[in-house]
Amino acid sequence: MTGLQDRLQEAFEQFGWTRVPEVLHHHAEEAAKHNISYLEFLDKLLQEELLAKRDRYIQTRTRMANLPYHKTLEQFEFEFQPSIDERRIRDLATLRFIEHQENVIFLGPPGVGKTHLAVALALEAIKQRYTVYFTTAHDLVQTLQQADQNRTIRQKLRVFTKPRLLIIDEIGYRKMDETAAHFFIQIISERYEKGSIILTSNKSYGAWGEIFGDSVLATAILDRLLHHSTTINIKGESYRVKEKKKAGLFRPEGGERKLG
Ligand SMILES: Nc1ncnc2c1ncn2[C@@H]1O[C@H](COP(=O)(O)OP(=O)(O)OP(=O)(O)O)[C@@H](O)[C@H]1O
Ligand SMILES: [Mg+2]
Repeated sequence: MTGLQDRLQEAFEQFGWTRVPEVLHHHAEEAAKHNISYLEFLDKLLQEELLAKRDRYIQTRTRMANLPYHKTLEQFEFEFQPSIDERRIRDLATLRFIEHQENVIFLGPPGVGKTHLAVALALEAIKQRYTVYFTTAHDLVQTLQQADQNRTIRQKLRVFTKPRLLIIDEIGYRKMDETAAHFFIQIISERYEKGSIILTSNKSYGAWGEIFGDSVLATAILDRLLHHSTTINIKGESYRVKEKKKAGLFRPEGGERKLG
């Protein structure tokens, strides 16, 4: 019997199976008790291993996607943000936009759920086996600027051009100088009609000239981004403020309580 056990263990290791060894005895007992056929028994074991494999794949891809936090669509309270049409978000969650290499842009003031929705779509995309990478606009241009100095620019560009879905968060919180804007438009141009981008910004399109310090450049960027795209314009209160109010850190009339 131990010879058999050892041989099985060896085989599981060679196949790289981790779940079957854990559940084998349980399923073997159940099969004996309930008169389950050999084929059904084998099917149960294989299905368990496939599920575990899928979980491992999703975990690895989620780690590689560099998300700032993990929040899903189910965790989003649509009632709190009535300016968002839930049907449009559910439609985006079908991920047809990725299939068609289209872009999604979330615009709105701080705390209204732009990053949360981008992350939720990213998690959905990972589940559907798309490659995903998340970056802030600032990190994107900094990484490329550094890579340019270290002569690793070709490699680094691939980090942002290769994934089927690239998320560029927080356009507009910092202005870009000329070289930063140059790297930014390079990514947008290389992905144009090839791979989807989800972008978030606290600035309306009219103010993008200011972000990039050049209205001609901003127009060129917007032209490529918006050609095949959906814009979700969020108007409303910050969810962070709502949570602070709940915690009593805001006065009823809205003024923040002075601490100390
Ligand atoms: N409608 C909502 N339901 C549940 N949680 C929400 C909702 N809106 C925002 N949140 C939560 O509030 C926090 C802030 O939201 P988020 O990070 O999406 O803000 P943002 O719009 O990206 O703001 P900023 O421009 O400051 O980055 C997050 O923890 C997010 O999960
Ligand atoms: Mg954000």
